[in-house]
Amino acid sequence: MQHMQIMKDIYWVGAVDWNIRDFHGYSTNKGTTYNAFLAMDDKIALFDTVKKGFKGELIRHICEITDPARIDYLVVNHVEMDHSSSVPEIMEICKPEKIFCSSRGKQALLQHFHREGWPYEVVESGQTLSLGKRTVQFLETRMLHWPDSMFSYLKEDRLLISSDAFGQHWATSERFDDQVFEPELLEHAAKYYANILLLYSPLVQKLLATVREMGLPIDMIAPDHGLIWRAGPGKIVQAYDAWSRQVPKRKALIIYDTMWESTASMARAIADGLIREGVSVQVMDLRFTHRSDVMTQLLDAKALICGSSTLNNGMLPRMADLLHYVRGLKPLGKVGASFGSFGWSGEGMKMVAQALEEMKVELVDPGIKAQFVPDSKALQQCEEMGRRLGKTINERV
Ligand code: FEO
Repeated sequence: MQHMQIMKDIYWVGAVDWNIRDFHGYSTNKGTTYNAFLAMDDKIALFDTVKKGFKGELIRHICEITDPARIDYLVVNHVEMDHSSSVPEIMEICKPEKIFCSSRGKQALLQHFHREGWPYEVVESGQTLSLGKRTVQFLETRMLHWPDSMFSYLKEDRLLISSDAFGQHWATSERFDDQVFEPELLEHAAKYYANILLLYSPLVQKLLATVREMGLPIDMIAPDHGLIWRAGPGKIVQAYDAWSRQVPKRKALIIYDTMWESTASMARAIADGLIREGVSVQVMDLRFTHRSDVMTQLLDAKALICGSSTLNNGMLPRMADLLHYVRGLKPLGKVGASFGSFGWSGEGMKMVAQALEEMKVELVDPGIKAQFVPDSKALQQCEEMGRRLGKTINERV
């Protein structure tokens, strides 16, 4: 059980989901973990549970430390099913004296599990709970990323149990940031931010300001997914600050789908133009790239340049899927343009431009379309478009 102790008398008792590959549209190619934490004190508290199906693993881990029936308190920081769907079974097994949650948490628990008789104890931001030697302070984090979300801060341990915030979808046998390759960890954290929290960036800024004002000393951040930030809690807070301010780099994303490689060759020519202007470019073919990986790259890009062939008087379906997904996450401050090949009607490129405008991407170039197979002149025009876009990016970043 020593390997599960994250601090004196505080244990990770979660579960590792090595096989999950899709999280409501987010590709979890490396699986995930559902972290839960057990604080052993005069009162024993379990912070969060795990996804249904992993209850056995949670109970097995708890049993290595104590009898689950000895748990006094269950803290539900967040009711989304990956953390709460085993709550009914845990209630049966542990029969805690109280369930601590936010007011919206209680409402969500009732709406999910329909149990009026559970011993709910609603807490508000700033409210504290003594476990004996240690004090838990609750901090509501509404809409980060659900209305019910909250953090639990263990004052004497200087430990922040942060629910989904600062998490990563990455299944590992290691539990701490200093046990893995840091750039890979930050890449997983960036993907998580881009796909789950980007939409709420203004609220993340507010929350970071609140935490700064409260002056909470933090030695460790334990999220409900992935690795625990032991060596560098400041590093992930800094990264969240930059991501939530959406600070761009001199970087452009060219994303396309293509029928017979014409739009693909246009994408490469546009990339050539951007590269000649010194802009970092990522070219992503939607046939081989998942929408959530596009979002990760978009997090620090200045330009979103999208291309689609025309099919049935519209854009290709994978491009429609991507634009719908990106629109929901509301990236800010991007410039962009559209391009694409066509046979006879040519609406695809125009519809892509329209969708970009609707998501508040500033169209800084009229874009380009080419009939059937682009010739060398058309490709030259694509390169020139890339150069124009590159100049704009350089002026704006
Ligand atoms: Fe990990 Fe919002 O659930």
